[in-house]
Amino acid sequence: MESLLALANSHGRHKMSHQQRLTLHDFEMPMTRGRLMQFADDPIGCMKQLNRDHGDLAVLAENDQRLVFVFSPELNREVLSNSQVFESRFFAVRGNRNSSQRRVTSGLLSQNGTEHRDARRMMKDAFAKKILPGYHQTICQIACELTDSWHAGDTCDLNAEMVQFMLKMTAALLFGVDDAAFAYRLGALIDSWVHRNHEIGMGALVSSPQFAEGYDDLLRQAEELEQSVQEMFQSHRSSEHDRLNILSLLFQVQQSQGQLTDNQLTGHATLLFAAAHLTTAHTFSWTLFLLSQHPEVLQKLQAELRAKVAGDIPTLAELDGLAYLDAVIKESMRVLPASSYSQRVAVEPTSLGPVHLNPGTPVIFSQYITHHRSDIYVNADRFIPERWATITPSAYEYLPFGAGPRMCIGAPLAMAEIRTALTIMLKRFNFQIQPMSTINGHVISTMLGPTSTIPATLLPCGSLPESVPVYGSVHNLVQLPDATRIGAIPIAA
Ligand code: HEM
Repeated sequence: MESLLALANSHGRHKMSHQQRLTLHDFEMPMTRGRLMQFADDPIGCMKQLNRDHGDLAVLAENDQRLVFVFSPELNREVLSNSQVFESRFFAVRGNRNSSQRRVTSGLLSQNGTEHRDARRMMKDAFAKKILPGYHQTICQIACELTDSWHAGDTCDLNAEMVQFMLKMTAALLFGVDDAAFAYRLGALIDSWVHRNHEIGMGALVSSPQFAEGYDDLLRQAEELEQSVQEMFQSHRSSEHDRLNILSLLFQVQQSQGQLTDNQLTGHATLLFAAAHLTTAHTFSWTLFLLSQHPEVLQKLQAELRAKVAGDIPTLAELDGLAYLDAVIKESMRVLPASSYSQRVAVEPTSLGPVHLNPGTPVIFSQYITHHRSDIYVNADRFIPERWATITPSAYEYLPFGAGPRMCIGAPLAMAEIRTALTIMLKRFNFQIQPMSTINGHVISTMLGPTSTIPATLLPCGSLPESVPVYGSVHNLVQLPDATRIGAIPIAA
């Protein structure tokens, strides 16, 4: 009776309309009846509310459609470690068998079962830790090109700088391409295609005719994207590449194993680029923003870099000894994880706690919610790199790169890029965020990134910035120092 009342009260807090009728069965479930589009519109706000109302497991239901949410490390483990029952459906719209859409959505992110296992095995050498030193020179070169273009006293938009930087970096590391214009063009094509997929995928989830109209446009974008990737393959094959890149390694696998077709490679290359560039760009933007608003952390980090990195460019051996830099990056990826949630779909009848799942039910896990649990992290909403000196969370308590058999294959490469390029940037510059600017953060296609500019003035690395008041929805995502708040109520996006 008590739990019935508690559930009834929690439903009451959702201001239910008279159409939203509860059945007796609903009372036994950690369920909120509402609109699934609530989740699409504001994933983090919606998940926070579900987590507050129901705890570790929650269901958002509209008519007979349900989204199931898991928020605890134990449930993360249950879902993420069982890839036979919980499959990836990264793309809701796969297109016809012979369509470009089918081919460009066919990569690691969307594969399952033996197909996924074999593809991961085929790619493992290109991403192995032992090969990372081979990418070091490219990472340093592109980071130096960026810092050479900066001058103390200039202002810039850190968000745009990091997105462009990562487009160039990703094109170079993945495809050996030095052409920035190509990188920006491919990035624009991929980003708008990913957004379209996401919109139409949500449409498929909620059967909204508004999204079905974009279907033809999605297929056209997929064709353009495929053509662009295949042209890049041709030019890659017809030129010499002196820098190590992942595509060359995949071409070698293609030659030695003879099973991988160009169409299969097109899907892998497209999805690798899509998975790599914005996640890393957002991690850079958030880390630089957090450092700039926490000058005491930046000061400590600058001291470590001065003591342990002799020149402007770190050697691999020097990078190995930067414990505080590692703590800063881990903490930034905890508090503002670029991948904020992801989903699986149950492919056979199963249950999670009291919730029965029919085949086809989407299950969502969230890095953001797990990383903000106060029972795992003290002062969970605050950026405190020092915590990493004393905590060692499990793989399902801290999962910026996911966990289990589908954990990010690019994680070691991403960490090498972030550690190296941050060192190069901070050996030369600090960043003063412009007071009273509006910093918004929002989830787009599962990625939590800045959705506003991040206006900053470049300072020489000897001058520390001050934390300054800013507006914006970033205050809903992370608890910044008091000096950064304007009034009590942040202005949302
Ligand atoms: C900071 C940067 C990055 C973050 C935060 C990130 C995050 C993630 C996460 C959370 C997943 C698992 C998604 C799930 O379980 O549904 C994932 C998977 C994946 N990531 Fe990353 N990633 C990053 C960088 C990269 C890079 C640099 C690459 C490639 C060069 C990459 C390629 C992939 C691929 C191919 C998968 C699918 C793996 C599979 O399903 O087997 N990622 N990433």
